[in-house]
Amino acid sequence: MSSSPDAVAREVSRRRTFAIISHPDAGKSTMTEALALHARMISEAGAVHGKGSRRSTVSDWMEMEKARGISVSSTALQFNYTAAGAPDGDEPSVINLVDTPGHADFSEDTYRVLTAVDAAVMLIDAAKGLEPQTLKLFQVCRHRGIPVITVINKWDRPGQTPLELIDEISERIGLTPTPLYLPVGIAGDFQGLLDRRSGEYIHFTRTAGGAKIAPEEHLSADEATAQQGDRWTAATEESELLSEMGQDHDQESFLAGQTSPMIFASAMLNFGVRQLLETLVELAPAPASRDDVDGHARTVTDPFSAVVFKVQAGMDTAHRDRLAYMRIVSGEFERGMVVTHAQTGKPFATKYAQAVFGRDRSTVDTAYPGDVVGLVNAMALTPGDTLYVDSKVQFPPIPSFAPEHFSILRADSAGKYKQFRKAIDQLDSEGVVQVLRNDIRGDASPVLAAVGPMQFEVVTARMKTEFGIDTSLDHLPYTLARRTDAESADELGRQRGLEVFTRSDGVLLALVSDKWRLQYIQKELPDLTLEPLVATAD
Ligand code: G4P
Repeated sequence: MSSSPDAVAREVSRRRTFAIISHPDAGKSTMTEALALHARMISEAGAVHGKGSRRSTVSDWMEMEKARGISVSSTALQFNYTAAGAPDGDEPSVINLVDTPGHADFSEDTYRVLTAVDAAVMLIDAAKGLEPQTLKLFQVCRHRGIPVITVINKWDRPGQTPLELIDEISERIGLTPTPLYLPVGIAGDFQGLLDRRSGEYIHFTRTAGGAKIAPEEHLSADEATAQQGDRWTAATEESELLSEMGQDHDQESFLAGQTSPMIFASAMLNFGVRQLLETLVELAPAPASRDDVDGHARTVTDPFSAVVFKVQAGMDTAHRDRLAYMRIVSGEFERGMVVTHAQTGKPFATKYAQAVFGRDRSTVDTAYPGDVVGLVNAMALTPGDTLYVDSKVQFPPIPSFAPEHFSILRADSAGKYKQFRKAIDQLDSEGVVQVLRNDIRGDASPVLAAVGPMQFEVVTARMKTEFGIDTSLDHLPYTLARRTDAESADELGRQRGLEVFTRSDGVLLALVSDKWRLQYIQKELPDLTLEPLVATAD
């Protein structure tokens, strides 16, 4: 029996769906664990602190992952959280943390995850400040208008000052931090937080190894002065300075992606973690309506619809299993319902619906907008596809992100050409890599384009294990891709350090050796089309 629109609206209003964007080692896994601890999903964090033990908890669906000790899969963790001031009897908030793969290499999947969330938490190491991968992910958030909450992590260790970090973020990415909480005690001497809105001091007490939730004591300004002396004065002066500069929280500019509420934290000591959860519940947007390809809004209480944002194949080597992750956009999902696949018009049964996090899988019976559900054996689904019931809807495709790595793929033995082609088409349709072709290079050895080189490894590994084809890759010396058009293609094709290809979706791409070459060509031939793709790094 499906729920009424009012019941769906209630479910939507208590949901928050977000991802953590960070550079490797900033503390994303530690923070995820700390959030789970605060939501009382786990009772102790110490046991899994540290990379060594944590690695064993992540998915090991591919040999490649095992060998490199990384997880290629992105999944979602759902937990309930009851905000501190919530009236008794209120239903808890439902938090969906959509995981971005936490390794050094990027893949398009990392970006696609961001199409499934309503907010992002930008996690920054206090000593390192903004790092390259955080910047790239931030660009995608900006492009998609995703509001960003900033967390400065590892405040228990020496690092920069709050104002240095705030300036760096403002200057380098044009996002104005509006701290909600400022640290009391310099980096390395983390005592507690000044709650800038209430003027209160929140004092934390360390627990052994940071394994438990850090007890909090709330003190008035006078009590804080007596307890913390100069540390408290320094924090209040910083706060006043920020207010004078207009850096107080403003909900409208936060939702518009211009300002970012900021929190100082130590994921390891569990300081500031509750404040992050409270901020998500209080300020992050609940799932909202989404425009379809014709610009009509599908509101959250409309009949069920969802967008597939990731397809994961080969998780189970025993049988070829393929999992498609969908983010629900509207209505109630009930396991077993037959939905329509908008791209083909075909019915799709949802008997095997699962929530997946790392190695854990559990059956999902009901889900609501903002939730992420994995559909098992979703052979026909590819990223960007729409599923719906009742009234037809199709959401815009997920943009393909600007590739930065290019390689020719060749089959080692010429005899398997047909299988080779079929395998490429399959991997292309799953969105594992972008496939480019042109007349000069011919069809036998297509050019693969990727956001991160790990995508190539996935291709060669799957070619071998799933299709039985040994392949090799030749790196191509291009670093940039620009969208061009048929009118410009001939002239561009005559330029040195540039080659034009057709991507399998029909888009013409000019691959360029480097940005200096690009600038030169743009200067010499200003009338030719060379447009940036969805900005990530460039
Ligand atoms: P990631 O997922 O973003 O890659 O980061 P992860 O949580 O694995 O954390 C990277 C390292 O930073 C870990 O240290 C972790 O313990 C440490 N770390 C995370 N948050 C904090 C924090 O708030 N304060 C401090 N001081 N350290 C933090 P490691 O050396 O790789 O492992 P281990 O020392 O835990 O064995």
